[in-house]
Amino acid sequence: MTPHAASASPASPLDVVAVRDQFPALHQLVHGKPLAYLDNAATTQKPQVVLDALRNYYERDNANVHRGVHALSERATASYESARRSVQRFLNARSEREIIFTRNATESINLVARAWGDWQLRPGDEVLITAMEHHSNIVPWQMACARTGAILKVAPIDDRGDVILEEFATLLTPRTKMLAVVHLSNALGTINPIEDMIAAARRVGATVLIDGSQAAYHMAVDVQALDPDFYVLTGHKVYGPTGIGVLYGRESLLQACPPFLGGGDMISSVTFEKSEWNELPYKFEAGTPNIADAIGLGAAIEFVRGIGFDAIGAHESMLLAYATARLSSVPGLTIIGTARRKASVVSFVMDDLHPHDIGTIVDREGVAIRTGHHCAQPVMDRFGIPATARASLAMYNTTDDIDALVVALDRVRQLLG
Ligand code: ALA
Repeated sequence: MTPHAASASPASPLDVVAVRDQFPALHQLVHGKPLAYLDNAATTQKPQVVLDALRNYYERDNANVHRGVHALSERATASYESARRSVQRFLNARSEREIIFTRNATESINLVARAWGDWQLRPGDEVLITAMEHHSNIVPWQMACARTGAILKVAPIDDRGDVILEEFATLLTPRTKMLAVVHLSNALGTINPIEDMIAAARRVGATVLIDGSQAAYHMAVDVQALDPDFYVLTGHKVYGPTGIGVLYGRESLLQACPPFLGGGDMISSVTFEKSEWNELPYKFEAGTPNIADAIGLGAAIEFVRGIGFDAIGAHESMLLAYATARLSSVPGLTIIGTARRKASVVSFVMDDLHPHDIGTIVDREGVAIRTGHHCAQPVMDRFGIPATARASLAMYNTTDDIDALVVALDRVRQLLG
């Protein structure tokens, strides 16, 4: 069976056939049709090396970390800490003490909103976000504002899905204590000019958190060059397992910040009168961590690093141009999100058809897309729509996948049009 022949594009430097060979889940039929997996913004498929890392851990090394003196515990600890170093190199963080494992990006943001927010925010302080944030970068700040009396401000976006930078500049003032911005919008594909936004935040003394959940699988991220205070990502979108996320934090800030969760491993000593906190990063990793999935994430990151973002970025740029051109030619289809800098995420609506109906019909053709508000309801409100259909492309996608979507959309029109 050769689902989607994976014809290499002349414009792509990536050997996409060889890449696809690494992903077992791509090679299946769905409803009798070759799978065209175009829901990568929701989660990416996993390469064999990640599946092998998980299996190896449970088959050979399964033990708790940082606790035992026996061989299995030492091997588990070595693999877990090696995964942390992989993340450190991936983000170009100065030190592995700046890399904290969490469950996902949502937990990383909640950690900051709780630990940093409750510590630093005062009544009347402002938290600035944008109108294209995922719910995970809205709700924790709403909750932090409710606890502390701080005020949530929102920088608006224009019809293309770009932040209106003049309005952003007006909203960013010395009252802004936190700027929390998505690097790459899951709903629109917009790549925000975070270099400029971070520099502007520095000028007013604001702390900065960047939500890199989507960016991390599309582009290289260098936290030393970007210089945010916090950068979060989630493992399952960067070809790793679910249930593992990352919080990068500037070391001096993490040192000063109180812990989030209390319990085992995050302490250096405990008496009934008083507890002392462990050193970084363990101060923020209470309890037995998600050892297997951290190791799986390490394998995923080394896999991505082996291919390289130059090749991945060039391939995905080609796919985005192809998908934009092909989808624009579909009668009645309107792309939502046409930012000046965009990643390979194409949200769209078709006349008055409900996106859920579109998604259900294209699924019968073997094409997996996401439909709904994409956990970004304010984005839908901004564009006056309840939902979109979204094709999100990753390193293993091909022009054949996009052609399959276009053919499936013809089927939608035949059935519903
Ligand atoms: N936030 C994820 C998405 O965009 C789940 O699909």
